[in-house]
This record gives sequence, structure tokens and C-alpha cells, in this order.
Amino acid sequence: MKFILGKKENMTEYFSPEGQVFPVTVILAGPITVTKIFEKGKDGYDAVQVGFDVQKKERITKSSLGAMKGGFYKTLKENNSLKTFCKTYCKDARKIPTKNNTVSLIVTSPPYVTSYEYADLHQLTALWFEYTKNLSDFRKRFIGTSHNGVKKIVLNSQLAEKIKNYLERKDKKFAKEVAIYFSEMNQCFKEMKRILKKGGQACIVIGNTSLKGVEILNAEVFAEQMQNLGFKIDDIIKREIPSKNLPSVRDEITGRFASSNSKNKISVYPTEYILIMKKI
Ligand SMILES: C[S@@+](CC[C@H](N)C(=O)[O-])C[C@H]1O[C@@H](n2cnc3c(N)ncnc32)[C@H](O)[C@@H]1O
Repeated sequence: MKFILGKKENMTEYFSPEGQVFPVTVILAGPITVTKIFEKGKDGYDAVQVGFDVQKKERITKSSLGAMKGGFYKTLKENNSLKTFCKTYCKDARKIPTKNNTVSLIVTSPPYVTSYEYADLHQLTALWFEYTKNLSDFRKRFIGTSHNGVKKIVLNSQLAEKIKNYLERKDKKFAKEVAIYFSEMNQCFKEMKRILKKGGQACIVIGNTSLKGVEILNAEVFAEQMQNLGFKIDDIIKREIPSKNLPSVRDEITGRFASSNSKNKISVYPTEYILIMKKI
């Protein structure tokens, strides 16, 4: 393909290390979604139809929606993937029971920091399926929890160091929680690197946020950590989060998710990123 689809975002300037100033037009190139695949046998030619940007469902015509649904379902069916055998494990993402260099694809929506207490969210299922009898111990197994007693922190990212230092000036407890989170996510990426085959991909869905006025650039930190561990960036897709069912505001003081009529609310996770990283 000899072109990119994009829309003009804004004008700015770039200062080179030599002190030169260049005028720059920022183009938003994506998100692009494949909405239909044309095949020579059926349609007379091979081509893909793509959609640019995010569109409200009500604005998509019924035939386009049908084509998108049919396309994905059809692809799975044609590849016999609807009958694929699968095994489910409930394990820690830092210790996956899988051999080295055996996995082709990892798709994950990892934990978020200081947003949810996942142990509390999973409490009913955990007791029901007997994952634990001791909730306070159970809490410590989750990434992103504030009940964590981790001592050895390895950030493996200069940006993570900066974020931790900025946060320390505002709130030492948050700074520690965020540092532990980045360190534990780094362990997950190490584990991903171990189990992926060379050329295998890891797709990670993550949003950035802010705490006490400090930007918590999760996507950028993850990309830096993964590159330091031996991944390369295949693609990064940025998209507006269309669903308003997700918690969309945070209490500025406590940092926790809040209801939309809360007094000190600030927006959280208005956009998300899909990092597509390849093991080199
Ligand atoms: C952002 S949520 C994604 C949930 C999932 N995609 C879904 O739709 O149900 C992150 C998930 O990571 C889980 N998690 C937290 N710590 C983990 C760990 N050490 N290993 C594996 N999963 C963990 C949380 O319990 C939570 O369910």
C-alpha cells in the first residue's frame, strides 16, 4: 500500500537537536478497521474495504454491520476455528505453565493500577471455586492492588522512573503502588517473552490515566519495558473508548473510580491503546 489514511489533527513545530525549527502537521492515521474482504472467486477481484476512525453503531448501515459480523464469523468458520479445542487455566500471569518458545499469540487486557481491587471483585467466584480461604492473602496475588508488600522493584523503563519521581512529590503511597505495578507488569512481559516463539506477537490493551495531576503513561511505559526485554513494536492502535458502560470518572483526591455525580471527578481512560509487539 503506497498511501496512509489520516485526518489532520493540528499544526505544531519540531525543534531538531541542532536547533532548527520545522513546521509540522500532525496527522491521525487510524484507527483503521477491515470492514469487508472481497475475493476474486466471489466478487471478481481481491480487495479489502477499510473503515477509518470510530463510528457510533447507530450511524453504521445495517448492510455494513452485517458485512462486518458475517466477515469475522465466516473467517472463523472457514478456518474451522469455531470447533477449536481449548483449555482454561486460572494462573498468575507472571508464572504461566507453558514451555519456552511455544506460543504464537498472546492477547490480553492486563490489570490497571489503583483503580479496582480485583480480589474484591472476584471474591464471590474465588470463595465458590475455592481459589482461596484467606481473602487477605488472596489480595496480594493481584497486580495493581494497594495491598501489595513487594520489596524488590525493577522498573526497566526511564519513563516509569520519571513518573514515580513526579508522584513521590505529590503522594508517596501512590508512587509506591505505581512503581510496584510497573515492576510487576515488567515481570509479566518477561514471562510473555519466555513463552512466545520468535516472531510471536503480544497484543496488549491498555489506557493511560492521571493520578494527583501526574500523567500515568501506561502504554508508553509498557512499550519501553517490552522493547528493553527484546520485543519490537509491530503496531500501536489508539482509539476512543466508545462504551459509556465503563467507569469514566475518577475521584481526584482518592484516585479511585467514582460515580459520574461525584464532586471531585476527573476523566479516566477516555482513550485506550492496543500495543502489538513482536518477539525478535
Ligand atoms: C482489565 S481486567 C481484564 C479482564 C478481562 N479481560 C475480562 O474481560 O474479564 C484485568 C484482569 O487481570 C486480572 N489479574 C490481576 N492480577 C493478575 C495476575 N497476577 N495474573 C493474572 N491475571 C491477573 C484481574 O483479576 C482482572 O480480571
